[in-house]
Amino acid sequence: MASTLKPENMKNHGSRTARIAILDADPAILNYLEQILGDRFKVSLFSDPAPLIFNLKEASAPELLLMDWHSCGDDERESALSLLARIRSLKPSLPVVMLACSAELKEVVAATRMGAADIILKPFDKGDIDLAIEQYLKQASIHAVEEDVKEIVLDENTSFVRANKRMREIESQCTLVARADIPVLILGESGTGKEIAAKLIHKMSNRSQRNFLKVNCAAMPADLLESELFGYEQGAFTGAVKSKPGKFELCDKGTILLDEIGEMPTVLQAKLLQVLQDGSFSRLGSRSSVKVDVRVIAATNIDIKAAIEQKTFRGDLYYRLNGFTVNMPPLRERREEIPVLSHHFMRKVAEKYNCAALPVSPALMRSLTAHSWPGNLRELENTIKRYLVLADEQAIIDELSPRQVGGPNRDSEDDSNAGEGLKQLVRHLKGDAESGAISQALEETGWNRKAAASELQISYKALLYKIKQYNLCPPQKRFNPDPAKIA
Ligand SMILES: Nc1ncnc2c1ncn2[C@@H]1O[C@H](COP(=O)(O)OP(=O)(O)OP(=O)(O)O)[C@@H](O)[C@H]1O
Ligand SMILES: [Mg+2]
Repeated sequence: MASTLKPENMKNHGSRTARIAILDADPAILNYLEQILGDRFKVSLFSDPAPLIFNLKEASAPELLLMDWHSCGDDERESALSLLARIRSLKPSLPVVMLACSAELKEVVAATRMGAADIILKPFDKGDIDLAIEQYLKQASIHAVEEDVKEIVLDENTSFVRANKRMREIESQCTLVARADIPVLILGESGTGKEIAAKLIHKMSNRSQRNFLKVNCAAMPADLLESELFGYEQGAFTGAVKSKPGKFELCDKGTILLDEIGEMPTVLQAKLLQVLQDGSFSRLGSRSSVKVDVRVIAATNIDIKAAIEQKTFRGDLYYRLNGFTVNMPPLRERREEIPVLSHHFMRKVAEKYNCAALPVSPALMRSLTAHSWPGNLRELENTIKRYLVLADEQAIIDELSPRQVGGPNRDSEDDSNAGEGLKQLVRHLKGDAESGAISQALEETGWNRKAAASELQISYKALLYKIKQYNLCPPQKRFNPDPAKIA
């Protein structure tokens, strides 16, 4: 049986009628739920899983599912857990509320680990159902609207995923500007996806078959950066045993991303201005000029206008680069994307490590959507990676909303507080050991971050992130109280 009931009788839930699906083999339960919900919601009734699955794939898919445990739990039918897994993979953000008898409770608890939002015990009354609907429809409304969700594959390891209206607009801006072939400036906090946006612009442009190269303008001193960008002739400097083309030449007819442009040394800014004006420059040690056709995309997370005022960034270069500006919003301003992004990162990381994806329970999803994400999408991706590696959901929830060791805690097993305290302790010890190793490497290299990163065998960016995370700073910047004043 699959029917949609009396749409003409339904009242609006918010601006439109919310859709609720109910799966139960017992016609009496279906009738009762139809009676109490049919006048307020668009209710679809199912006594069998097959038509429900079909309905989930349609545009009119429900926003909430009430699912009886037993209706799909006997031997001839698909087991409730595997049905739930199928539903979760089809509709990762659909809240599923299980209906069960107290005798089934133990098994149904397993369903909550698989991502069921809640359990309502039979016999229930209208109040129980209304409470669950109120709570989980509200949760569903912060989830992305279906038409806002899209994934564009950029290369074998990278996709641009967006799941809200603002990011849909960002995608349109990137697509439009891709065709215009003008310089683009991408602004945004660290980890908001500036590089992904640059790759998207390249992919959508008619340069997509040619090179896309990235140069990090903050990672090297001026002379090295100059030779990296513009190349050099044999004998241009000690060690230049043969001539070498720079990234601009390698990128001819393609796209170059000048990352962290705000950190580019001012001497090089003049040379870049010249390239932007007529596409010409000369290799180090050469008198003749080279002409190239390169689309320049620049990205920065600094306040570029403040840098112009402080004279660390040339105003004329800013106006040249700023043919079009894309502003990447921080993740905290696009929270409704978090469920879709979390599932995307989970799939991506599981594929990379060749292991099964872990379910994201409603409790974990609540923590993920509530967190402020100062490190934006990179931090979210790393958190999902840690969850997959540790397979400890509670540890991740605690990390996102730290609690006191031994404080009010999980309501499950009696010894949970002790276990929790131990986990926290292990995490603190791990953190201490990590920050100690990083401090030591920095001190040994005289705070040369590049050298320290290579000594620690982590990326330069990861090191910068860790320095921030552990609030480390060079000795001269540390607060060193005068021993004479301490007495
Ligand atoms: N829209 C997106 N869809 C999928 N993955 C994304 C998206 N935006 C960012 N990411 C992922 O998040 C991480 C950070 O993105 P990216 O490197 O583009 O950020 P960024 O703004 O350039 O950071 P930084 O300022 O630190 O260089 C990457 O692993 C990237 O794949
Ligand atoms: Mg970047």
